[in-house]
Amino acid sequence: MKHIAVSAEHEYRVHLNVHFEGVLNEISQSHSKVFVIAPQYIVDNYHLTQFLHALDNTTLFVVPDGEHQKDISVIDQIWQGMGEAGLTRSDALVAIGGGATTDLGGFAAATWLRGVAWYAIPTTLAAMVDASVGGKTGINSHIGKNLIGSFHSPRGVHIDLRFLKTLSDRDFAAGLAEVIKVGFIRDSEILDILQSHNNVSKAHEVSEELIFRSIVVKADVVSQDFQESKLREILNYGHTFGHAIEKMSHYEIRHGEAVSVGLVFAAELSGKLLGLKEEVIELHRSILQQYDLPTSTKMPFAPILELMRSDKKARGSSLRFIGLNSIGSPHWLEDVTSDILETTYERIAE
Ligand SMILES: NC(=O)c1ccc[n+]([C@@H]2O[C@H](COP(=O)([O-])OP(=O)(O)OC[C@H]3O[C@@H](n4cnc5c(N)ncnc54)[C@H](O)[C@@H]3O)[C@@H](O)[C@H]2O)c1
Ligand SMILES: [Zn+2]
Repeated sequence: MKHIAVSAEHEYRVHLNVHFEGVLNEISQSHSKVFVIAPQYIVDNYHLTQFLHALDNTTLFVVPDGEHQKDISVIDQIWQGMGEAGLTRSDALVAIGGGATTDLGGFAAATWLRGVAWYAIPTTLAAMVDASVGGKTGINSHIGKNLIGSFHSPRGVHIDLRFLKTLSDRDFAAGLAEVIKVGFIRDSEILDILQSHNNVSKAHEVSEELIFRSIVVKADVVSQDFQESKLREILNYGHTFGHAIEKMSHYEIRHGEAVSVGLVFAAELSGKLLGLKEEVIELHRSILQQYDLPTSTKMPFAPILELMRSDKKARGSSLRFIGLNSIGSPHWLEDVTSDILETTYERIAE
């Protein structure tokens, strides 16, 4: 087992390569009551009901699948469940699931009694390398995705790699898009590993190392800039464009798939504005394509531009992007004109 330390509003550790049963046992011994949330798929396939039944101070709450769980009506039911379970300040919540479940669970913990302890047990690659680490929690509303939330770090993140075995190739690849992002902004060794493990099943063989390397970078960046005043923005490489097409698809495409196209867009933009070498731009395409991740879009430019302007990461009306000078050297691009964005878009339009 390996640990990675994160320093945020409190210090906590990401524990890599644990068994979730042992983790739940330990958590249940350190709090008088534990409220566990998980989607049905995980409850059924990982026999959570039977396991938790043996720990008599736990309550299991099954959440809806996917993005639907990040809804105010679900939070309302969780609050009610925590109330009925008599969850007090010294008790804890555990979120077992993908990024949607850890976002939801973290937010429920942030709001109950003005903040109770919570633990993340991520079950998708996206949640392991990204969503469960960093303390951003939240839900969606009719106004937009992730607009309601709180910075509320978990007490611990516990990664059980066995969960990856049941993940679909599509979801595994979507998680890899975030790993590839980390390779370009900070850790080029990730890119070397991925080039020599050039399909999903080969990448599975090195998942522990890829997860470890990605979390080391995220933990370092978050520890320096928890509330995203500047440095943490580098983790948004590929995301301004990615969020826009994710929204235009009405969340039919995976977040990682949208980020994949966004990474190529950000690389092309960096070619124009920062002189990023053509071979590095092509490396974005070739690595992403190894995992069948999309690198172009059919969506029209005008609404994408509109959505990029309204991205919550925009400051005032200025459009900001993270670009690359070279591999490992991100650069903040401010006030990028719509003409430049349009000619960049033409490079990735189908
Ligand atoms: N807080 C953050 O910093 C942060 C960062 C990135 C993404 N996110 C959020 O994370 C979410 C995306 O994460 P995600 O892709 O994990 O989404 P998800 O939680 O919706 O999971 C995707 C699908 O995989 C299923 N699943 C989960 N674990 C499984 C397993 N082990 N085997 C088989 N199927 C499994 C889920 O039931 C779901 O259908 C979005 O809501 C996004 O906003 C948050
Ligand atoms: Zn992302």
